[in-house]
Amino acid sequence: MNPTTAVIHAVRGENNPTGAIAVPIFQSATFVHPGAGESTGYDYSRSGNPTREHAEKLVAALEHGAGALAFPSGMAAATLLMELLAPGDHIIATDDLYGGSIRLFDNVSAKNGLRTSYIDTSDLEAVRAAVTPATKLVFLESPTNPMMKVCDIAAIAELAHRNGILVAVDNTFLTPYLCNPLDLGADLVIHSGTKYLAGHNDTLAGVLVARDEAVLERLRYLHKTTGAVLSPFDAFLLIRGIKTLAIRMDRAGANALELANWLAEQPKIRKVYYTGLEAHPGFELSRRQARGFGAMLSFSTDNADTAKKMLNKVRIIQYAESLGGVESLLTYPMLQTHADIPEEIRVARGIDDCLLRMSVGIEHIDDLKSDLENAMK
Ligand SMILES: Cc1ncc(COP(=O)(O)O)c(C=O)c1O
Repeated sequence: MNPTTAVIHAVRGENNPTGAIAVPIFQSATFVHPGAGESTGYDYSRSGNPTREHAEKLVAALEHGAGALAFPSGMAAATLLMELLAPGDHIIATDDLYGGSIRLFDNVSAKNGLRTSYIDTSDLEAVRAAVTPATKLVFLESPTNPMMKVCDIAAIAELAHRNGILVAVDNTFLTPYLCNPLDLGADLVIHSGTKYLAGHNDTLAGVLVARDEAVLERLRYLHKTTGAVLSPFDAFLLIRGIKTLAIRMDRAGANALELANWLAEQPKIRKVYYTGLEAHPGFELSRRQARGFGAMLSFSTDNADTAKKMLNKVRIIQYAESLGGVESLLTYPMLQTHADIPEEIRVARGIDDCLLRMSVGIEHIDDLKSDLENAMK
């Protein structure tokens, strides 16, 4: 099934005798047992809920995984992933990573005995050099956040598997509509479902997808034991959002490409980071491992005043954290997503007071251009 159709039809409700087109919201904490020792398949919503299960099956189908688990946020999904590891284990993570993931690794997982090395994963040799006998997980973002670096998922997965290491890819930016990391050899995919999957900035959600049944079963046990499960209503919103994923990604991606080219010509813009620009170092690799470039871009202004002016003056585009919704959002990574990273490390990675990140939405391109043009004046 083409992904454009799959987002709508990959999963049909099995618990729906009425024939309702929209998935019912099973807002029930517990379920009646038909008799002693018998079950309808649902006993208690922490271990299984039909609406949540529909969302999980849908994302698993889109990501080509054995199964998926849905969480109340992306960070809850990442936190559960850490439970696959044991004290003394070592993680190799992309250096240009979502700040919340860095906070998790350094301030929570570290106290549980996990050690993380931040590596430029767009450099395969650097990844190879970082592997130690204790390495158990490679955690990738591609494109990265916010510098939009691209890594070779298949090559890293091959290297990792030769060393018995699991590979997890945060596929929040590209979504399964544009990229399927499991097909490239990754073992796990993680999503902030809050972003493109739900797509409307109206709910928080997270999803973890496993390629293999054995890993999935271990995660399923951890999920029901630790209890961070997506609510039935939020699962419904996630499913509803995914139905329009394809058309939203198409429109947002087309807008992003046009804006990236336009921004690159503006005198007050020093540099544009977008994987769909032919001059981007990850352009060819992106074309090989994804069906599109997505709708996230970053750019550096000529000075900090221009960056701040743009944040204050945009009228259609909104200055807000998060990404992946129908609304275009502008972020100041230095003060928002990456505020907790020590300044010298942050600036060395290019996240300085001139860098803005834009989640390009599905508005009309002319309105987006004129909004940015006015804000720059
Ligand atoms: C790439 C990426 N991964 C994970 C997360 C965390 O997801 P959530 O905010 O749903 O917990 C975010 C949030 O901004 C993100 O941008």
